[in-house]
Amino acid sequence: MSVRIAVLVSGGGTNLQALLDAQKTTLRSGRIVLVISSNPRAYALERARQAGVDTAVAEKKALGSQAAFEERLQQILTDNGIELIILAGFMTILTERFTRAWPDRIVNVHPSLIPSFCGEGFYGLRVHQAALDYGVKVTGATVHYVNEIPDGGRIIAQKAVDILPGDTAQTLQRRVMEQAEWILLPQAAEQVCGEILGITRKEGSE
Ligand code: GAR
Repeated sequence: MSVRIAVLVSGGGTNLQALLDAQKTTLRSGRIVLVISSNPRAYALERARQAGVDTAVAEKKALGSQAAFEERLQQILTDNGIELIILAGFMTILTERFTRAWPDRIVNVHPSLIPSFCGEGFYGLRVHQAALDYGVKVTGATVHYVNEIPDGGRIIAQKAVDILPGDTAQTLQRRVMEQAEWILLPQAAEQVCGEILGITRKEGSE
């Protein structure tokens, strides 16, 4: 028995790749059955196809409004019997209307040690540039549950990464991915899937 996972992406999809690869190792209690992109040109979609995983696109601009976008997402997720949503470089904020329908069933990876350098406007390279501008010596990644507050849900796992002299946003992003995100996200996904199965088993035995 495994948890049916949808991974939501917008860009290159290296975290998606880490999750797909981890299905042979760390990620045993869940199966990635669907990848949904908010961007029809995202390379992440190609990664999904190469792994034989179904894909879908939900583009806010094409759908006309946040409400229509979230309705479309909800429809695709329900149609596919999804039990856990993993945001892996998904760049569209989800409103309370959506997150309330999935309590403790949406997780996100963020490329800093929350509560530093997070919230609205902090995404991708901007997060790393903000850490460099502030002058912190340690940053990292956080996997957390998603609620209505951007990057504000309960923390599941964190990993610290050193900032080195001469770092640029690009070199730092790469180190945070290699040393933290690509390891932490599959581990946290496995932990959450295990908890979901535990809960399901308990409910099933009552
Ligand atoms: C990752 O660093 C991810 O943590 C970040 O975007 C990158 C996506 O890369 N997400 C955010 O900033 C969300 N606030 P990927 O497409 O190669 O996984």
